[in-house]
Amino acid sequence: MRLKDKVAIVTGSAQGLGKAMILRLASEGAKVVVTDINYDSCLIVKKEIEQSGAEAIAIKCNVTNRDEVKSLLEQTTSKFGKIDIFVNNAGITQDAQITKMTDEQWDRVIDTDLKSMFICTQEVIKFMIPNNYGKIVNITSVAGQEGNFGQTNYSAAKSGVIGLTKTLSKELGKRGITVNAVAPGFILTEMTEAIPDKIKEQLIERIPLKRGGQPKEVADAVLFLVSNESSFITGHTLNVNGGMYV
Ligand code: NAI
Repeated sequence: MRLKDKVAIVTGSAQGLGKAMILRLASEGAKVVVTDINYDSCLIVKKEIEQSGAEAIAIKCNVTNRDEVKSLLEQTTSKFGKIDIFVNNAGITQDAQITKMTDEQWDRVIDTDLKSMFICTQEVIKFMIPNNYGKIVNITSVAGQEGNFGQTNYSAAKSGVIGLTKTLSKELGKRGITVNAVAPGFILTEMTEAIPDKIKEQLIERIPLKRGGQPKEVADAVLFLVSNESSFITGHTLNVNGGMYV
């Protein structure tokens, strides 16, 4: 049990990678908070965790709304007493080539995928600094490292996540808080189900390991970065991409 007595929050954990992460952290003994805009699915994930014998609560929270984030953190500490681990995972795509991208598509993706991490981090460190302890992991993407056709908004947000992570590691290190990023490549989730089959085949062709990743493989990387095994690692971006980008 690598996370016994730790309290962990993963945003956007009602499905996909976030769900795999919260299940993995709970399986290592953490008390977990399942949180998403989709509350009904949070309740299903919470039940699954409880059936495995771990402790979980479900809280609805839109990560772009500071008041909802404050409420998420207050509810967590009033139930579990502290917050040790926070994973900024919630994210969306709104793809269009630059000639067709609307202001709304640009703003929604920057708000959800980047500004949310500013809001959540600024609020959660208020609970971590007094304990001189915290593990923050930000989910970026291969698109933030090498760009991706039709995703100026998404790749700009995800590149921003890497810069944010590096700066936060410098500001928060002396507070006992590590801040790292995980950069998944092509992982098989609800988000990537929408990609047309022909594009999926082209993506897999580019991956040296010749397959898409499983959500658990991303969750294992997150587990490493929130556990004691990574105690001297901060400001790092860990690729989980089958060699797609090196
Ligand atoms: P997903 O679409 O399956 O799940 C995302 C979750 O975030 C959903 O449950 C959704 O309701 C929630 N969410 C969306 N907006 C929210 C908001 N404003 N507040 C709270 N929750 C919100 O996506 P997936 O694939 O699980 O992606 C998770 C993260 O991993 C995202 O940050 C994504 O950009 C990133 N990623 C995913 C890759 C993949 O291949 N699936 C590759 C690289 C990065």
